[in-house]
Amino acid sequence: MRAVQVPRPGGPLELVEREIPEPGPGSVRVKVQACGICHSDSYTKGGLFPGMQYPRVPGHEVVGVVDAVGSGVAAWKAGDRVGIGWNGGYCGYCGNCRRGDFFACQTATHVTGITSDGGYADYLIARTEALARVPDDLGAVDAAPLMCAGVTTFNCLRNSGARGGDLVAVVGLGGLGHLGVQFAAKMGFRVAAIARGQDKAPLAKTLGAWRYIDNQAQDPSAELQHLGGAKVILATVTAADAMEAVIGGLAVNGTMMLIGAAGPISVSPVQLLRGRQSIKGWYSGIASDSEDTLAFSAISGVRSMNEIYPLERAAEAYERMMSGKARFRVVLTTS
Ligand SMILES: NC(=O)c1ccc[n+]([C@@H]2O[C@H](COP(=O)([O-])OP(=O)(O)OC[C@H]3O[C@@H](n4cnc5c(N)ncnc54)[C@H](OP(=O)(O)O)[C@@H]3O)[C@@H](O)[C@H]2O)c1
Ligand SMILES: [Zn+2]
Repeated sequence: MRAVQVPRPGGPLELVEREIPEPGPGSVRVKVQACGICHSDSYTKGGLFPGMQYPRVPGHEVVGVVDAVGSGVAAWKAGDRVGIGWNGGYCGYCGNCRRGDFFACQTATHVTGITSDGGYADYLIARTEALARVPDDLGAVDAAPLMCAGVTTFNCLRNSGARGGDLVAVVGLGGLGHLGVQFAAKMGFRVAAIARGQDKAPLAKTLGAWRYIDNQAQDPSAELQHLGGAKVILATVTAADAMEAVIGGLAVNGTMMLIGAAGPISVSPVQLLRGRQSIKGWYSGIASDSEDTLAFSAISGVRSMNEIYPLERAAEAYERMMSGKARFRVVLTTS
């Protein structure tokens, strides 16, 4: 099979031939149809996750078809359409799992594309806890970006405390942000999209934004306060200064939900305590959250806007994502 691997931390993405892997107990082999490229793949590329082993195949926005099942697998069979996200499986019984901290499962930590090989390949092995069923009416290319960019923003918004009619700001209009704007609009929020430059304004409106704020030409905190203050700010940007610049736009009791993995941010405690505001981190979700995301998207019409590349051009596709020029997600296909 073909696989695109990172040979060493910081190394290039290289196309190689590998043996098709066999699924072990509790796992399935998935024939990959599409895999989105997420900014978090830079963790794999750069060796930025503790304890990583190389070579490693990135990719945690995977959609394909179950092709073979390992021993002890009852719920899945060859031919099932599945999606696999960042959370590549967990044991379900260690102390961390039992508290719901799947990210920190100690017994069987699997992060797709980080601790196990991901979807930049013709096949991958996935643990069954990681599998989400893909609705019939969602194609593989449409569904793939929903497995990380989608579930992260959808799951974050639905757990943010915002209610219909509230002002919700989405900062950053990349892979995650452009889905965040759509989900927020379909959930009934008044959506302010914040990005840099005027060129994204028409697209933001098309995606459902009520207002567009150019953070290079305007003070985003002041603009949000003019609109009444944001109940929730969904921060998907990759730049800490762009996050800091919007904190002042929170309403009383507002919450900034941090999704983007940016550098340290500084904030005035006085500013937060005066308005009883909070800043909270969020990571994607588990397979059932992905299934909810896929179902919501299928019904509501939320779709990722994608630029499609064949698997063998993964290195070019990755650079396209990193350039910030993609509108808005880059997706690899295997056929
Ligand atoms: N928490 C989680 O579970 C989770 C899940 C997935 C991803 N992430 C993280 O989320 C972040 C976004 O990922 P992604 O795949 O959406 O990346 P992306 O497609 O590269 O999008 C990032 C966006 O941030 C924008 N941006 C950067 N600096 C900005 C600034 N100063 N002002 C305004 N916009 C700015 C870029 O805009 P330009 O086009 O103007 O450059 C780009 O559109 C990454 O840090 C990623 O690691 C977290
Ligand atoms: Zn991701």
